[in-house]
Amino acid sequence: MSQQDSGSSKQGMVEMIQAPGGLDALLIRSGDSEAEALRHGAHVTRFAPSGGREVLWLSGSSAWREDSPIRGGVPICFPWFGAKEGDEEAPGHGFARISQWQIESVEEEEGRVQVALSLEDSPETRKLWDHAFRARMQVVLAEHLEMHLSIENTGTAPMTYSQALHTYLAVSDVREIRILGLGGREYLDKLQGGKRMRQEAEAIRFEGETDRIYVHTEDDCLLEDPGWKRRIRVAKEGSRSTVIWNPWVDKSARMEDFGDDEWPGMVCIESANAADNAVTLGPGLEHTLSVGISVEEL
Ligand code: BG6
Repeated sequence: MSQQDSGSSKQGMVEMIQAPGGLDALLIRSGDSEAEALRHGAHVTRFAPSGGREVLWLSGSSAWREDSPIRGGVPICFPWFGAKEGDEEAPGHGFARISQWQIESVEEEEGRVQVALSLEDSPETRKLWDHAFRARMQVVLAEHLEMHLSIENTGTAPMTYSQALHTYLAVSDVREIRILGLGGREYLDKLQGGKRMRQEAEAIRFEGETDRIYVHTEDDCLLEDPGWKRRIRVAKEGSRSTVIWNPWVDKSARMEDFGDDEWPGMVCIESANAADNAVTLGPGLEHTLSVGISVEEL
């Protein structure tokens, strides 16, 4: 599973490495950037332009264990988002992020590197969610990072699921940033029991704990970070919800795998299909959720 380059910095390369906790990881280098993806959860943990600042946020307190999700990077939420309705014991945000995925392929062409990981239903997943499916996560690295999560219904009955590419972004200070792209949209405020609200201001700014599912929105988001003089674009396709999250002081303190002082350094912009926008797929059908992350100077 290793494609060595010939020494040219413009060529891509994929190397199997060990992440903390002995988790299998793929170190992916394109000519212009570097990323890491785990088999555990098909979880992208890092992405940075060559020689540049990290784009994804990763907690220093994350558990690196096969039975736990990683705190940071891009967890895959599937086949439900948040708690499973009617089953408090089921793993939060679904089982995909705590499942071991298979490495399906590694391809490299002219500095553009693609890796694909897959996950299928098993007796264990059937106990939690009784559907036959095949999930494929394709990570494409060139100058930008692209992630394509395809879900196929391999069963004989329709199935409904929620999902997210739960992207944690590193910021200089969440109190100084703004997020554009959700002005005028309706959201469910999880801090008010899911109350429906409208985003009146064009830009989202952060002054406290924030946990919102914006529904019926297919637009890209822009994160402007004056402290680090950069703008991150979260572009998406096949996604009709966007989740914005920062736990602030109290919730960070309650989470074991989240450092008490880490909250100012992150924000989540999650490209999702959740709440009103759950996906229903008939037998034999496939749906793809795609996210592109790119950085430019502000
Ligand atoms: C967000 C949810 O997507 O994920 C929040 O909207 C939740 O409510 C957060 O706290 C983190 O979830 P978890 O399961 O990774 O702790």
